[in-house]
Amino acid sequence: APHRIAGRPTGKPAMPHSSSRIRSIDAATAGQPAGLDLVQRPRRNRKSDWARRLVRENTLTVDDLIWPIFIKDGKADRSAIASMPGVERLTVDEAVRAAEQAAALKIPALALFPYVEPGRRDPGGTEALNAANLVCQALRAIKAAVPELGLITDVALDPYTSHGHDGLLEDGRILNDETVEVLVRQALVQAEAGADVIAPSDMMDGRVGAIRAGLDAAGFQDVQIMSYAAKYASAFYGPFRDAIGTAKTLSGDKRTYQMDPGNGLEALREAALDVEEGADMLMVKPGLPYLDIVWRVKEAFGLPTFAYQVSGEYAMIEGAARAGWVDGERIMLESLLAFKRAGADGILTYFAPRVAERLAKGGGS
Ligand code: PBG
Repeated sequence: APHRIAGRPTGKPAMPHSSSRIRSIDAATAGQPAGLDLVQRPRRNRKSDWARRLVRENTLTVDDLIWPIFIKDGKADRSAIASMPGVERLTVDEAVRAAEQAAALKIPALALFPYVEPGRRDPGGTEALNAANLVCQALRAIKAAVPELGLITDVALDPYTSHGHDGLLEDGRILNDETVEVLVRQALVQAEAGADVIAPSDMMDGRVGAIRAGLDAAGFQDVQIMSYAAKYASAFYGPFRDAIGTAKTLSGDKRTYQMDPGNGLEALREAALDVEEGADMLMVKPGLPYLDIVWRVKEAFGLPTFAYQVSGEYAMIEGAARAGWVDGERIMLESLLAFKRAGADGILTYFAPRVAERLAKGGGS
């Protein structure tokens, strides 16, 4: 590096470290300009707010937000989720209120997740195929009230199965092809009820292609697929399982279908298959601990790429904020901006309405 201590005689051997420091301190105290002779001073571009805004590479806008909401049976009711402070399960009519709020804030889309009454769950997850199930009711009600809002639905069986798995369970194994058959029918039921985007989160092999074929055959060519391309077997989903009531019922874990957190290349192979099979958009999940995967997937395929800031990430930020240990508002914005820097086109986040309000007031990142 061409850095040189000002005032040090050039051409002579450098003085021993301690005496050169003393010499430069002496020079400074003697009123000579002390300092480094630098051509590049990156801090110049950070010297004031206007300069920082001018050179900022990434920004967070309301267009980047997808708001996941939880739906439950009943009327005019909201219930708290202990492990996700500030997030509630909403009855369908309350979900319509949330949708109106989202539209007013210009949030582009909602993602819907149901809390299914335990009595409606069975080993085959058949409630997923009920055209009058909670998700379908919510789709119809929200579409009627707020047609301009994008609606994304989760395709997977876990809210509907008595064992809490995303697929059909036989002798301790999750069946792949049999599950995919059911998932295609679930996607059709959702498309019929008005879903704009089908988001398969089950991680079965071949599901994106099968769902695409099923949608096309039924005349739903315009229904998009946002595939959970790289979804890891993660402890960060814990609070979500409280929210949809599968935490206690889940038998075993999901490691035979969700990915091993140690793998990165495998995420690219998974994403490649989903692209070949017709995915319109890719998603990586969890979010912040997997930003390297977001970056690699975006670089490799250049498809619209999303990240899911999952329930455990939300709980960690919100929990620490409520305890007064961190500045929750700032961490919320910083964490979401980090997704943008990693190449994400958008983020599913439980903070969506709060962020949108904050951005609308002009309080950016
Ligand atoms: C299930 C599903 C999960 C999430 C979204 N869809 C949990 C799981 O795989 O067990 C997690 C979302 C979150 O944690 O916020 N198909």
